[in-house]
Amino acid sequence: MNDTDLPDPHSLMSLADQVVLITGAASGIGKAQVELFLAAGASIVAVDVNEQGLERLCHLGEVARLHLQVADLAQADDITRVINSALERFGRIDVLCNTAGVLDGYKRSLDIDEALWDRVFAVNIKGLYRLTNAVLPGMLARGKGVIINMASVAGCFAGGGGAAYTSTKHAVLGYTRQLSYDYGRKGIRVNAVCPGMIETGMTTAVLSDRESKLMKVLASVPAGRLGTPLDIARVSLFLAGPGADFIHGAAITVDGGLTIK
Ligand SMILES: NC(=O)c1ccc[n+]([C@@H]2O[C@H](COP(=O)([O-])OP(=O)(O)OC[C@H]3O[C@@H](n4cnc5c(N)ncnc54)[C@H](O)[C@@H]3O)[C@@H](O)[C@H]2O)c1
Repeated sequence: MNDTDLPDPHSLMSLADQVVLITGAASGIGKAQVELFLAAGASIVAVDVNEQGLERLCHLGEVARLHLQVADLAQADDITRVINSALERFGRIDVLCNTAGVLDGYKRSLDIDEALWDRVFAVNIKGLYRLTNAVLPGMLARGKGVIINMASVAGCFAGGGGAAYTSTKHAVLGYTRQLSYDYGRKGIRVNAVCPGMIETGMTTAVLSDRESKLMKVLASVPAGRLGTPLDIARVSLFLAGPGADFIHGAAITVDGGLTIK
């Protein structure tokens, strides 16, 4: 390889002309993805059940490249509406970030009722499957597409959530690998991100309890700090772009070293 073969490093992080659909866009990691991906030049379909949170994204001032969609990912009709509206606005979806998720209150199996169990599964895995299936046909027709699923270190180990949350995040990793296996050779690149402890709306309660088990674990994290939503958005941006072209079906741990032992 000579110097002329080297890509422009900036191009590896550019999403100019790309259309990215991001769920969980109103808060935390999804919101940071919206902000960073907009800055990288993408047009964004920002999806969340939290209407007020979505409206706060308007302060980004990129209205022409930002399409807000209020939707409950547990509702099949909402997903159909979101996809139709996104295609009407931008014509295609190049990158899907399945970021939205809900926690289960760290409940053990005997303590969780079926309603909460079903809700956690409906949002964290069935919603993700429905949205993926709604976006995949267009990607396959173009022979190109990227899907980034937000798993968790709770997808690799016990103790990062309760019985339902941990089960769904393990399922997200299995689903990611199977999608990659089934569609990789058709031009679809699917990967998962496994965040550790990130300061977001989801973790406010547990992180404000200085005596909690998780806070004690944090004391030994090599990075010496909690993660930020931007830590995860940066890795998502890399995975969405051409620099990650040879990464298929991976589970990328971004946890400051939380799970090294
Ligand atoms: N914060 C962490 O420490 C952490 C760690 C590992 C994985 N994760 C994962 O990262 C993802 C984002 O979480 P976060 O920490 O940013 O949490 P968050 O609570 O700040 O954001 C989650 C967003 O998802 C939205 N959402 C929830 N249910 C929805 C539904 N039915 N339909 C549409 N939108 C819905 C919420 O309104 C919210 O805006 C989740 O999948 C979570 O499991 C977070």
